Amino acid sequence: MSILAVFNQKGGVGKTTTSFNLSAAMRRDNVHPLLLDLDPQCHLTMLAGVQTQLGTSLYGFYKEGRQLTDLIRQLPNGFNLIPSHIELCKMDMLLGREPRIATKLRNAIRSEMLETPDMPIVFDCCPMLGVLSINALVAAERVLVPVAADYLSYQGAVQLSHTLTGLEHALKRKFKRRYLITRFDKDRKTSQEIVDKLRDTFGDDVCDTVISESAPLAEALLLGKDVFQYDAAKAAADEYTKLFEELVGCGFLPIGD
Ligand SMILES: Nc1ncnc2c1ncn2[C@@H]1O[C@H](COP(=O)(O)OP(=O)(O)OP(=O)(O)O)[C@@H](O)[C@H]1O
Ligand SMILES: [Mg+2]
Repeated sequence: MSILAVFNQKGGVGKTTTSFNLSAAMRRDNVHPLLLDLDPQCHLTMLAGVQTQLGTSLYGFYKEGRQLTDLIRQLPNGFNLIPSHIELCKMDMLLGREPRIATKLRNAIRSEMLETPDMPIVFDCCPMLGVLSINALVAAERVLVPVAADYLSYQGAVQLSHTLTGLEHALKRKFKRRYLITRFDKDRKTSQEIVDKLRDTFGDDVCDTVISESAPLAEALLLGKDVFQYDAAKAAADEYTKLFEELVGCGFLPIGD
């Protein structure tokens, strides 16, 4: 069983890119993840080429009492997706004070028995610690934190580690955490400096694999393709394969357990 939240309160660090391409790496290994787009910006939903209506998105689950199982789309590219909807941006206002809202997603995943050894669940979170991200973190026991290789992203990662520690106290359990350096530019001195700082600060919690800044990766996204579907992005595809293998190898993604 493996439920993974891809989360960072900092925007634009590669959460969606990583959710999408790490899931694509799983698919190549015949593992078909269930992706939940927990971001009202709907970026993952758009990348997957899915058009959503309110009731058939996660909004249907949060506001209309629908089962998660009924909302799963099986996509031709081998992903299972529960799409987002822009109206989910109202969740904090609509549900923020509801008792037990923090456990709603976790309870549904359990009661609908969506946790299976063959289908890892991946949450693409929004860049804000509101109802949706809290739901993801309560449901997940693993958090993958993409951190872009720049100074403000480093500072954001330090803040986030405090946030996660606070949540661990509240939830009375530990998250397994991994920090993933993204958008690394080998020609930029500051990129390497930030990598060193991250490794000094977070030690073994930083993935060995680094995702480089890559124009073909960005082009692939523009075309709605993952890096494995776009030949020019081979270098990025190799990095995401390496990431998948590393996460499985170190037990962070217990595929098939
Ligand atoms: N390794 C990379 N190389 C080049 N461009 C990248 C890379 N990773 C992400 N990008 C680009 O950076 C932008 C932000 O990436 P992405 O949407 O994955 O970040 P995010 O953390 O999900 O953002 P948000 O916080 O808004 O949800 C995207 O336009 C994407 O194309
Ligand atoms: Mg995103």
